Amino acid sequence: MNVLITGGCGFIGSNLVHHLRARRPDWTLVTLDKLTYAGNLENLAALEGDPKHIFVRGNICNRELIEHVVGLYRIEGILHLAAESHVDRSILGPEVFVQTNVLGTQVLLEVCKAIGVRRFVMVSTDEVYGSLGPTGAFTESSPLQPSSPYSASKAAADLVTLAYGRTFGLDVVVTRCSNNYGRYQFPEKLIPLMIVNALHDKPLPVYGDGGNVRDWLHVEDHCEALLGVLERGRSGEVYNIGGGAERKNLELVRGLLKLLGKSEELIRFVADRPGHDRRYAIDPSKIRKELGWKPAHTFEQGLAETVRWYVDHPTWWEHVNSGAYREYFDSQYRARLGASPG
Ligand code: NAD
Ligand code: TYD
Repeated sequence: MNVLITGGCGFIGSNLVHHLRARRPDWTLVTLDKLTYAGNLENLAALEGDPKHIFVRGNICNRELIEHVVGLYRIEGILHLAAESHVDRSILGPEVFVQTNVLGTQVLLEVCKAIGVRRFVMVSTDEVYGSLGPTGAFTESSPLQPSSPYSASKAAADLVTLAYGRTFGLDVVVTRCSNNYGRYQFPEKLIPLMIVNALHDKPLPVYGDGGNVRDWLHVEDHCEALLGVLERGRSGEVYNIGGGAERKNLELVRGLLKLLGKSEELIRFVADRPGHDRRYAIDPSKIRKELGWKPAHTFEQGLAETVRWYVDHPTWWEHVNSGAYREYFDSQYRARLGASPG
């Protein structure tokens, strides 16, 4: 099979390329990525010289380029991950989120329609459902109530994908996964940011009271679920993906400090994120029942391995600890600290 992975140099995308290479060695994999701040070609360095892996630098909004790539490599399946992915950045500047996440997705769907790609997998997120109270979990029929410009743009792309299935008969499947963790995650997201800051004895900014809950899944478990959905998911369906590892942010940050042997005095409570969803939790019964998927990693083991990976690979993340990136993080931190009630 010839598969196009969009966003294949980002966190989940690059883990997915490695996962597919290991699990389906005969497939031809084409990675398309614009290489924004979040994309890093180094993540795929181990595939250099692999005759069955092709890297194309490009923007999913460029229809001519997408048509060329899909035609040239006779693409049969698309795993669509390219996106602007950080909620905080979507609050600072929503425009690029609509451009890439909504319009870019629609360009890919148009090309599938024009050229006849066999299957399109839209990698959406559980954030499209909005926030939960203290109990219950999202099912595939929970209402979509996105809170942030990021999640709203993902919900739009998710619905446009389903509409192309119903209206034009495209073979589409949508996945909605919970928060991922693992190697290659850009240190602006909670887990890698806290690890990198703690390693440098910098303050760890916890938003609000730290009581917000996320349902964590190891990135490799997500990748295995995506492979199952690509091969065996039912056309036109939505699949929730989640590992049942709910943790309060504060509890998680304390656990990271313990793993790193650092003091809890590094924790700083800062102003909350506007529109901050209180709790996410996924009901993954459908994918478990239909595709036989279940996570292979426990959260404790996966988190310890992830911490070890960041400790062992400072050259991968050191560049974000200096220059423009560090300035961005520090200015965000100062702004939140300044606005914090405590
Ligand atoms: P990421 O930010 O690490 O990677 C995104 C990748 O997309 C980067 O390599 C970037 O260069 C590329 N990209 C951005 N704009 C592009 C464009 N216009 N054209 C081509 N490439 C472009 O994100 P991630 O965390 O790996 O998330 C991947 C996908 O999974 C996203 O669609 C995200 O919404 C979804 N998702 C993420 C999580 C999570 O916890 N990280 C959970 C559920 C769903
Ligand atoms: P994040 O990794 O940005 O993922 P998402 O917002 O998509 O769930 O944030 C995870 C949780 O951690 C979320 O509740 C916000 C919180 N958070 C902090 O408390 N401090 C931080 O510096 C960051 C980046 C996130």
